Amino acid sequence: MCPLLVAVILVSAPGRVGADTGQSAWLRYARLDAAAAARNASAVPPSILTYESAAPIQKAREELQAGIRGMLGAEPKLTADLPADGAIVAGTFARLRQVPGLLPDTTLGADGYWLKAVSIGGAHHLVIAGQSDRGVLYGAFAVLRKIAMGESLASIDQKDAPYAPLRWVNEWNNIDGSIERGYGGRSIFWDGGHIREDLSRVNEYGRLLASLGINGLSINNVNANPLVLSAEFVPQVARVAAVLRPWGIRLALAIDFGSPQSLGKLPTYDPLDPTVIAWWKARADALYDAIPDFGGFVLKADSEGRVGPSAYGRTHADAANVVARALAPHGGVIFYRGFVYDHHMDWNNPKNDRARAAYDNFRPLDGQFDSNAIIQIKHGPIDFQVREPSSPLFGALERTNQAIELQITQEYFGQARHTVFLPPMWKATLDFDMHVGAAGPSPVKAIVSGRTFHRPTGGFVGVSNVGLNANWYGNHLSQANLYGFGRLAWNPDLTSAQIADEWTRLTFGNDPAVVRAVTRIQLDSWPTYERYTGPLGLQTLTDIVGNHYGVAVEASERNGWGQWHRADEKGVGMDRTVATGTGFIGQYSPAVSKLYESIETCPDDLLLFMHHVPYTHRLHSGQSVIQYIYDSHYDGAAEVQRFLQDWDSLKGRVDEERFAEVRTQLDYQSGQAIVWRDAVSRWFHRASGIADARNRVENYPGRLEAESATLSGYVVTDVTPWETASGSKAVECPAVSCTATFRYSGPAGKYDVTIRYFDVNTGAARFRVKIGDRIVAEWTAADKIPTRRLDGSSSSRNVLRSVSVASGDQIVIEGIPDGAETAALDYIEIQPTGRQP
Ligand code: GCU
Repeated sequence: MCPLLVAVILVSAPGRVGADTGQSAWLRYARLDAAAAARNASAVPPSILTYESAAPIQKAREELQAGIRGMLGAEPKLTADLPADGAIVAGTFARLRQVPGLLPDTTLGADGYWLKAVSIGGAHHLVIAGQSDRGVLYGAFAVLRKIAMGESLASIDQKDAPYAPLRWVNEWNNIDGSIERGYGGRSIFWDGGHIREDLSRVNEYGRLLASLGINGLSINNVNANPLVLSAEFVPQVARVAAVLRPWGIRLALAIDFGSPQSLGKLPTYDPLDPTVIAWWKARADALYDAIPDFGGFVLKADSEGRVGPSAYGRTHADAANVVARALAPHGGVIFYRGFVYDHHMDWNNPKNDRARAAYDNFRPLDGQFDSNAIIQIKHGPIDFQVREPSSPLFGALERTNQAIELQITQEYFGQARHTVFLPPMWKATLDFDMHVGAAGPSPVKAIVSGRTFHRPTGGFVGVSNVGLNANWYGNHLSQANLYGFGRLAWNPDLTSAQIADEWTRLTFGNDPAVVRAVTRIQLDSWPTYERYTGPLGLQTLTDIVGNHYGVAVEASERNGWGQWHRADEKGVGMDRTVATGTGFIGQYSPAVSKLYESIETCPDDLLLFMHHVPYTHRLHSGQSVIQYIYDSHYDGAAEVQRFLQDWDSLKGRVDEERFAEVRTQLDYQSGQAIVWRDAVSRWFHRASGIADARNRVENYPGRLEAESATLSGYVVTDVTPWETASGSKAVECPAVSCTATFRYSGPAGKYDVTIRYFDVNTGAARFRVKIGDRIVAEWTAADKIPTRRLDGSSSSRNVLRSVSVASGDQIVIEGIPDGAETAALDYIEIQPTGRQP
């Protein structure tokens, strides 16, 4: 080991204090603590040698330099020959094999790498050999990951290769710079109808994606604007492709199937029409002239109002193939989305079922798609709900390429305002055995990667939707979902615990207390979210027809969207059985279908997805359905409170900026979990007429309703949906300023006083709280929660911790409206300090 390296390591301090915006995510290369650094003190050679000039290999070299400098505090030398004191030698397998003694003959999987500690004539080298240029870059990132995690490289000999050929990410960005279902700010790609001038964030994003092995990226909304294919855009998207290319990522575009007509001015977009065929070919040729490594297209057709082949009585295969044939000569692929369903279904017909749609649409076409067409299938049959079974379509296409679509952006998972670590949910699908292979198990991961049915291609697609926010998603902890997606696309056999552990160490460092607390929060977060938003396969009980964010139990009912749960006074759940229901269960293989068809064997967590049962139905645990709904909501809300406590225990161990921002997020989430808890439990209490065995529902100690306070100026209003406000009412101020006065009559002491108010996005109302003569809090409700209504989304809280309140005290809340925001209040709650409300 070079003496300089030793000296620098010994004086370096671990990088955990100070500020961190989160922009470098898991590639911070922060200085390691002495113990972790020492593990690689002699195993990381002092020089870097690359023989080749390909851009990904140069990127590999730059990353190794930056990483070693940052983590180990040493400056690696760049060298052109094998030095006597050892080097990191990074290059393609083909090139490195020419160096005598460096590598034995072997084979590497596509885009794979080999990391090997080699001694030649007493010199210790660390070889990073890639099957391709990209593989070299992936290998370099793997080395840096190991250094960051304090793993020794001293005698490493490890080969690795991606599980599937296609590992793509979709960004639902509109060309005006907005993002459909994006929660981290505006687009990093587009602005005002053009590609952005400054693509520096695209470069940073490419780096993050490359570190995970992502090799394709589509940069516009699947609800595509035809303009992206116009001649004007070609040079613009070529600029993006040039930024991504060195990272080994192929650029792709989402297309609109009507483009030959709307953009090309043809009289038709019939996929079998010769002029249409020629039009697609000409557009593909033009793109490949400018972007020779263009990846291909993503197409959403005949879905949610998008035009498609049905307009001409053609099939999805006709539609996919006309585009596939335009791309084929250039090596491009088309991802044709399996998300096709009728969103005007009749709710009154108990046999109707949206879950059937993907299978019903695509199964009859199996074998008719060209070899460069891939059906992109959402992981469940509905739409990224909190709990869904694996889509039956995975098991139904034996002669068609498939990819699984996983949603990284948290559309139905609290929109980055809630922490929900999704890999455990994705794993549940990826590892699910569809029982369709000729021999042995056929988990979804093996099917989509092409292994089970010996398909030429297939893989993983993640809907990411990063934005310009420094931390990409609007929540630091949400970055773990992109990390987890990429790691699973590379190796779906990784466990969620491994992924959480890696991500935490890379993102926050190796401090065991931090690793323990953060991984626990992450790993518990999906089951917790499920408990307070929609357990037992009910799906996320959110505002289905609106923002998909806050609670609204009945929003999914009585409309054509088909996300029904059919809860009424007698029972709850969708009957999807073959015997008496929609027959959806029959779309699975016999073994899986048998499992779900019988109420005896159907797992509890999917019970209400598959069966309609009375509220008194006993789960496998012996508990009744209704009591489980109550308990799970109370447990879920309490668990989020624990997340906050766990996070608080990390004060001083995480840099201040991220500590404060995550704390704010978890505090907000713990308040929202209570809104969910109360709304869902009250709704089912009213529907079922069955009391909570623990008497919590409609019984809230310490809570004082605003509508029962002494009001000056404030007027009482009904809240819709009724379950989203305590007592179903709120007070709103129609004047310049109003007050609500509450009288406290309990014993004197220190209390946590929660003020539950509504924060809509149409203004920034102000609030002031006085207890006796003291002003104890003032704030502005300026959050941009996605609603203009008083409802479960806008319900917010301010907890005044540990304030002195004496018997007879008056608590006066003054509200000052702003714009269309009415300084609305729901209730206050006075609890002994520290007790969970
Ligand atoms: C969901 C989502 C839409 C999106 C659609 C899709 O329904 O809410 O915004 O366009 O999925 O995946 O195409």
